[in-house]
Amino acid sequence: MTDRPFSEYAERNSGPILDVLRNEFSTSAKVLEIGSGTGQHAVRFASELPHLQWQTSDRAENHEGIRAWVETSALRNLLPPLSLDVLTADIPPQSWDAIFSANTAHIMSIKAVTKMFQIVSIALGDGGVFCLYGPFRQGGEFNTDSNAAFDQSLRARDPEMGIRDIEFLDDLGTDNNLLRLRLYAMPANNHIAVWIKGAV
Ligand SMILES: C[S@@+](CC[C@H](N)C(=O)[O-])C[C@H]1O[C@@H](n2cnc3c(N)ncnc32)[C@H](O)[C@@H]1O
Repeated sequence: MTDRPFSEYAERNSGPILDVLRNEFSTSAKVLEIGSGTGQHAVRFASELPHLQWQTSDRAENHEGIRAWVETSALRNLLPPLSLDVLTADIPPQSWDAIFSANTAHIMSIKAVTKMFQIVSIALGDGGVFCLYGPFRQGGEFNTDSNAAFDQSLRARDPEMGIRDIEFLDDLGTDNNLLRLRLYAMPANNHIAVWIKGAV
């Protein structure tokens, strides 16, 4: 069995995220996670929200680690990763009623974030929920100096990365029949934005 990858950060933020998902996914059944990363979030959320069938996904390079977490958990409602790169994905329409993604929009290029919103809209049925966790800019401003510094470090690493404006994400939502209804403030200067399909 592969050593399971571990993120201290994912461990810390999973409790507060779970509190929001309990509410937002209370009537959902099938959830697709985009960019599952280590797989830790998926195990925590699938075990605490047993009414959900949780589908992990990511680019192939992360599959071994996610699979290790999924297999060790032995959860019946947690599925091994789909190969899903938003830039190339061909997603079956209206196959999920909820989508979750954490810390992806600032890692993906603008082109990839744009594709992610298109994929979310295709994958969700009407009334489906999309929860996106991470740092966002609002009104052209960073909410803290630490997020401004984080943005600079991302752009130095790769000019295509960077913290996204919530208004830009909302425009992508509007283009794809997704309306943002809520924005939860989260610990460590992050947020969860919630869009609903078909509410535009
Ligand atoms: C910072 S990690 C976050 C991982 C995990 N969601 C978490 O919060 O711990 C960013 C994730 O985005 C994924 N990612 C980046 N570009 C992607 C793309 N084009 N399509 C799908 N996933 C992508 C990476 O593979 C990685 O799993």
